Amino acid sequence: MIKDKGKFYTFEGIDGCGKSTQLVRVAERLRAVGVSCVVTREPGGAPISEKIRELLMAPIPSDKAQMCVETELLLYLAARAQHVSEIIVPAINRGETVLCDRFEQATFAYQGGGRGLDMEKIRSINDFATNGLMPDMTFIIDIPVEISQERLNKLGKGKDRMESAGVDFFERVRKAYINAATADPYGIKLLDGTMSMDELTNEIFEVISCVKA
Ligand code: TMP
Repeated sequence: MIKDKGKFYTFEGIDGCGKSTQLVRVAERLRAVGVSCVVTREPGGAPISEKIRELLMAPIPSDKAQMCVETELLLYLAARAQHVSEIIVPAINRGETVLCDRFEQATFAYQGGGRGLDMEKIRSINDFATNGLMPDMTFIIDIPVEISQERLNKLGKGKDRMESAGVDFFERVRKAYINAATADPYGIKLLDGTMSMDELTNEIFEVISCVKA
């Protein structure tokens, strides 16, 4: 018997938006109703991709050996290519539901909106990396940049390369996320990240319950 393919959901938003917490809560709700879930993340999710993540998340080096934006883009997409082929597609083919912390919309928002790289070029390389795989639904949890910065400061840990990019950068990233949701209201659900955690989980779960088999 051929198994039905699983669904693929991605969770997005600027740093500190609460997407990772929501992803875990939604996975718990799905498992409680008997849905088998794979929880994963980008950059990362597969051994080679996690190695690439270490490079990408390292703090800015003091020796001026800065990573150029093209290298950054290609590393995110190299990590994605491995993750898609090794983890995501096999899980979907086994009929499991995949919940992924960030995916292509992060690249459009951070490298396109934030870094200013050409969106069409990004789309084309992303398409190569994913072999055309697209999420069944993307959830963007939107919060103002001030709240994001407050939350990151409260964590009290050193900022990684992306987190230290500054307020203007995050304003551009947030705008790109909002624009993406406006352009694709059926594929991307924009959620108000200032709602309570329970309200957010309920809303995401309701949308997932309505996605057609
Ligand atoms: P995380 O903090 O949600 O684990 O994400 C790691 C960082 O990587 C975050 O600052 C967003 C950034 N990122 C990109 O810039 N482009 C991408 O394609 C992805 C997946 C993440």
